Amino acid sequence: MNFYIDSADIEEIKIANERGWVDGVTTNPTLVAKSGRPHHEVIKDICSVVDGYVSAEVLSMDTDGMLKEGRELAKIHDNVVVKIPMCEDGLVAVKKFAAEGIKTNVTLVFSPLQALLVGKAGATLCSPFVGRLDDIHHDGMELISQCMQIYENYDISTQVLVASIRHPMHILESALMGADVVTVPFKVLKGLTKHPLTDKGIAQFLKDGEKIVQ
Ligand code: E4P
Repeated sequence: MNFYIDSADIEEIKIANERGWVDGVTTNPTLVAKSGRPHHEVIKDICSVVDGYVSAEVLSMDTDGMLKEGRELAKIHDNVVVKIPMCEDGLVAVKKFAAEGIKTNVTLVFSPLQALLVGKAGATLCSPFVGRLDDIHHDGMELISQCMQIYENYDISTQVLVASIRHPMHILESALMGADVVTVPFKVLKGLTKHPLTDKGIAQFLKDGEKIVQ
């Protein structure tokens, strides 16, 4: 399973990358705005640090605008994946980008039938959002299982990228289901190394280590 970091903060991306936790990056307009830096500059910097797909989102809501923005983003680096919001115009853009060899990630997917359309359009990645579904009392992980089943049934090569991850259980369930990619906030990535029994065990070993005869 590939781990992406869901971030536009170059410092935390560098740390996560050095730790070997990062196979790619997803950004979105909220994260880029938070960085306080120009969009293209942020994407260029991320591509210089991480050797993997970097999703960069368009803001246009019509096909022509998406194509224009996406082609400019794709010029930044070969690893740029143009992130397109789930909508009718977006699916048309995805099909055109696929014909041009430009990679796409369709975002804000909340139903299995949206995911089927994303796959049929030829997207590289499909991003179902689990946390935002859980937030409104729906089962986010059930959506992942349905997307994966549909892609398997029809031999669709689009990868399922589990997005809007809130906690480690989303990652564990994704791994058990065999999801292709998870995109994870830095804080949650860091938490994966932790276990209270590990900390307790280390403290005990260090204490006992002091008693080893020299
Ligand atoms: C994915 O590509 C999105 O950027 C992200 O996972 C959204 O997560 P959120 O629901 O925590 O904003």
